[in-house]
Amino acid sequence: MIIGKFPNLRLRRTRKYNWSRKLIQENSLSPSDLIYPIFLLEGKNKKQPIKSMPGIYRHSIDQLGMIVNNIIKYKIPMVALFPSTPNKKKDKFGTEALNEDNLVCKAIRYVKKRFKNNIGIMSDVALDPYTTHGHDGLLKNNYVINDETVDVLMKQALLQSQMGCDVIAPSDMMDGRVGKIRKYLDKNKYYDVQILSYAVKYASNFYGPFRDAVGSKKSLKSNKKNYQMDFANSNESLREVALDIKEGADMVMVKPGLPYLDVIQKVKNNFKIPVLAYQVSGEYSLIKNGINNKLINEEAIIESLMCFKRAGASAIVSYFAIDIAKKILFN
Ligand code: PBG
Repeated sequence: MIIGKFPNLRLRRTRKYNWSRKLIQENSLSPSDLIYPIFLLEGKNKKQPIKSMPGIYRHSIDQLGMIVNNIIKYKIPMVALFPSTPNKKKDKFGTEALNEDNLVCKAIRYVKKRFKNNIGIMSDVALDPYTTHGHDGLLKNNYVINDETVDVLMKQALLQSQMGCDVIAPSDMMDGRVGKIRKYLDKNKYYDVQILSYAVKYASNFYGPFRDAVGSKKSLKSNKKNYQMDFANSNESLREVALDIKEGADMVMVKPGLPYLDVIQKVKNNFKIPVLAYQVSGEYSLIKNGINNKLINEEAIIESLMCFKRAGASAIVSYFAIDIAKKILFN
């Protein structure tokens, strides 16, 4: 309830000094709220800039030691690994997804072996990094077929768990995949592997730079509207989340972030479960380019992350994670 009346009440009083503003601050951002995505590349000692994402690189696996060391130093709890698969290893079935020596599997093994349980490893379950058509599942008559795709995703999830992945993140938007994956993992005794479902993933125009980063942009001829959500919808997000919770999701993701703060808040208020936000590549690049071109200043990054905390997010996947964690800890 809001009570009080001018001139007895002057809200500017508590805003006057920095110490006072700090005392009444309602939300805060800490490195433990952040997840850092890393793009992977084949080869040795490689660091390749991603044109559409200034400041972000694709790294060969041998550089992961150095990067993860930094991430631990900056107290970020988890990394998300994304492979940029060479075109010659892609086919229309995404077969490479089930190769235990694919980029992401090798990277999971590498990080797990060196860092044990000192860092969480999250990995996407979806076929788009591996298919020639760039879709997240199998195509039949140009339509992504659900149940056949889920059969492959279960295997992909199990394989990544066997490699040492801690958090399986299905980002494909097939119906029923969380339940099938949970059952399959349990059947194989991976009871403790967590599922972070990209439960509310919109068919968004903000994924462009990511598709460029993992090399699926050129191959994707159409859009993903027949499986990802319509950005005009909000109540539908509750149905998606309800289903995934029943199927065994430990945490759910809303994606993209900034244009969907209402959805984060709605999901959190309704289900009280851990809701994560993904500040996606397009959001990153717009803000970064704005800063580089001096249209906005750097504090816009903190502002863009704090809004997720206000909305009720438990954690945020962000390409700004390292920069911001450094700032929070050492400023
Ligand atoms: C693939 C996937 C996408 C992103 C994460 N996993 C792209 C897509 O669905 O086309 C986007 C992340 C970003 O834009 O930063 N399933």
